[in-house]
Amino acid sequence: MKILGIETSCDETAVAIVDDQKNILAHVINSQIALHEKYGGVVPELAARSHADLLDKLILQALEQANLSLKEIDAFAVTAGPGLIGGVIVGVMAAKALASVYKKPFIAVNHLEAHALTVRLTTEVQFPYLLLLVSGGHCQILLAKAIGSYKKIGETMDDALGEAFDKVAQMLGLPYPGGPAIEKLALEGDENFFKFPRPLIDGTKNKDHPFDFSFSGLKTAVRRQIEKLTGQEFSHTTSAAKLSNQDKANIAASFQKTAADIILNRLENVMNSEHLNHQKAEKLETLVIAGGVAANRHIFSKLKSWAETKNLTTITPPIKLCTDNAAMIAWTGIERLKLGMTDSLDFKPKARWPLDF
Ligand code: KG4
Ligand code: ZN
Repeated sequence: MKILGIETSCDETAVAIVDDQKNILAHVINSQIALHEKYGGVVPELAARSHADLLDKLILQALEQANLSLKEIDAFAVTAGPGLIGGVIVGVMAAKALASVYKKPFIAVNHLEAHALTVRLTTEVQFPYLLLLVSGGHCQILLAKAIGSYKKIGETMDDALGEAFDKVAQMLGLPYPGGPAIEKLALEGDENFFKFPRPLIDGTKNKDHPFDFSFSGLKTAVRRQIEKLTGQEFSHTTSAAKLSNQDKANIAASFQKTAADIILNRLENVMNSEHLNHQKAEKLETLVIAGGVAANRHIFSKLKSWAETKNLTTITPPIKLCTDNAAMIAWTGIERLKLGMTDSLDFKPKARWPLDF
């Protein structure tokens, strides 16, 4: 069984072909980083136009890479949400057209489920597993129970973790996307140099959100620290240039450490809670970290050491499959098709689409 997957929900146009033996037969991806870099974030209109310009070429490239023709594809899977709706529509229209012309199943994939299932493409992971989904748009703790069955335990009340990395990076004058840039710079810094707050954890307020996240206060604290160091009100154009490289590295390292501490604290609360015991029928053996921020080695190794104390094995996809790609979409298509879970051609693309549906 071979499925062609399409991903156009954010700033990557990607096409992949995956078979049911877990072989990635084609994997093509065009990142729009250069297109959005000067804006410090993704511009939806530009993203959608670029997906529309490139998608057909990338589909042909993927077929060439796999040495297959469209007739040999067994089904077409596409991110149908959540995401920037203009881009999602481009991908969904293409997949529907192909499915209808070649009379093959159409599979509308939830982008978050695709992140959640990527580890099952690259390793053997059985349900149920605890899932930390950390990307540019999402920050959630879930219990993955089966294909199409997820229970949300906690989530961010403001920024996603990747978004916080991107915004702090922007304050430090680092390139977009900020996550990899912060991780690299943090290697030269002292993670204990600055003490940043851990919203929802420190202090006595908000104790009724033991599994949720909040990163906006942390972001504000970084901004205040920059103001203290530069002796001026924060400015996107001048502040970063006034910081020394060592200051920037110390901020990056201290921010990253605080972010990791926050996640660890929330996961600890989840593991200690009765709530989780009610949700899972079987023994929990695995912690899966998915989404773009799962590429962060510092966060991964901290969580891995913690998970060992809970008898959990920590698994994350290879770095190139942590960030958005189409292999995860095609693989989700395989998992769903095997269970007969296909969609009709009138499926409507969704800007919002929670995973615990
Ligand atoms: O999953 P993804 O590719 O796209 C979304 O669905 O959002 O995640 C992108 C996010 C960006 O915010 C990026 O800064 C972050 O993942 N990211 C990282 C790292 N690599 C990517 N964050 C921290 N450390 C990294 N190494
Ligand atoms: Zn994603």
